[in-house]
Amino acid sequence: MTTSDAAALRRELADRLAAEGLLRSPSWRAAVEAVPRELFLGQAVFRFETDETKPPWTPVRRSDADEPAWLAMAYADRTWVTQVEDVPADRAEGPLDGAPTSSSSLPGLVVGMLEDLDVHEGHSVLEIATGTGYSTALLCHRLGAEAVTSVEIDPRVAERARRALHAIGQHPRLVVGDGFGGADTGADYDRIIATCSWRYLPQPWLYQVDTGAKILLTLSGWMDANAQVMLEVDEAGTAQGRFLPGYRSFMMARSHQPPPHGPVFFPPGADEHPTDVGPELLDDWTGRFLAQLAAPAAQHIGNAAETLLWDVVTGSQARVRADAQGPRVAQHGPVRLWDAVEEAAAAWRSAGRPHISAFGMTATPSEQRVWLGSPEGPTWRLPV
Ligand SMILES: C[S@@+](CC[C@H](N)C(=O)[O-])C[C@H]1O[C@@H](n2cnc3c(N)ncnc32)[C@H](O)[C@@H]1O
Repeated sequence: MTTSDAAALRRELADRLAAEGLLRSPSWRAAVEAVPRELFLGQAVFRFETDETKPPWTPVRRSDADEPAWLAMAYADRTWVTQVEDVPADRAEGPLDGAPTSSSSLPGLVVGMLEDLDVHEGHSVLEIATGTGYSTALLCHRLGAEAVTSVEIDPRVAERARRALHAIGQHPRLVVGDGFGGADTGADYDRIIATCSWRYLPQPWLYQVDTGAKILLTLSGWMDANAQVMLEVDEAGTAQGRFLPGYRSFMMARSHQPPPHGPVFFPPGADEHPTDVGPELLDDWTGRFLAQLAAPAAQHIGNAAETLLWDVVTGSQARVRADAQGPRVAQHGPVRLWDAVEEAAAAWRSAGRPHISAFGMTATPSEQRVWLGSPEGPTWRLPV
């Protein structure tokens, strides 16, 4: 396989993304056709394998694959996990259990977001979550490295990204630290894009943008529901905008992860009563997001027989299970978690159960809320 074969694979990737409507402009096409993704994957990635006899995250080394197969992997439109529980794929001695802690995101997802970001010549961009540096490289190609600042919390991941970016001659400003703080209070970024998700908009970002700036945020939470919102900042420093169509998600920022917990058991003897909102609400993309808005400090702990919400702050619990008579709920503790979910579900039902793109978000330095329909519509405060 030669350099020109890799270039051909990049063109094919660009064609596929264009056919799916994700790649829409010549300038981003030029970036996709120029940036060698294989360089950003390093020497190994993890593949998820469902063989019950061993842990699922299986390292695949470049040296074990033939070069054409490796390049075909690099230019597949798929996410390649590069680190699991902070072990990089090239240091894993065998398959691992646990959660991915860094990856090269799906090119279609990254490119679709970059198109949505609506950048123009002369814009300066703050990227949160450098990861492998692939998306940083696309930004550098599009705007020039001097316009790009990228923040990564994991020093080893950041160092690998720095080396890959330098290898292709790109020298953006790379910051190692918690992206919650953004980079440089008083900076005037035109755009902020985050490729990890957050429970709310980190407030420091509001002090690092100018009027008219756009912030593309993936909002997530402790029920693992995700939705992307495009916020625009007005003269008063308020960021407001609507959630985007589609179904995009990202790993959660380390600083917003839920606290670990041991086994959680619902206390015996609680009163159980029928509810018109069954556990299947959490199987729906928007329904789950809504439940997360209604009970923002609750974690979802489920099994096949029952759904359990557990509020980390107060210890309150809600248990929902369905039988032939329909769904029934039992609640325990000071916060009536399922009452809040039922109330949110009622507002959503009366609006016709729309996709999350019917919702919007408003963020000021002191308060953040998500609303349905318009800022005057039903509202849920984010856990700022
Ligand atoms: C999905 S990857 C980013 C993908 C990357 N943009 C790419 O194209 O390769 C998510 C990254 O977010 C980083 N991360 C997690 N929490 C963070 C935080 N609080 N601040 C900055 N980076 C964070 C992780 O270490 C991980 O490398």
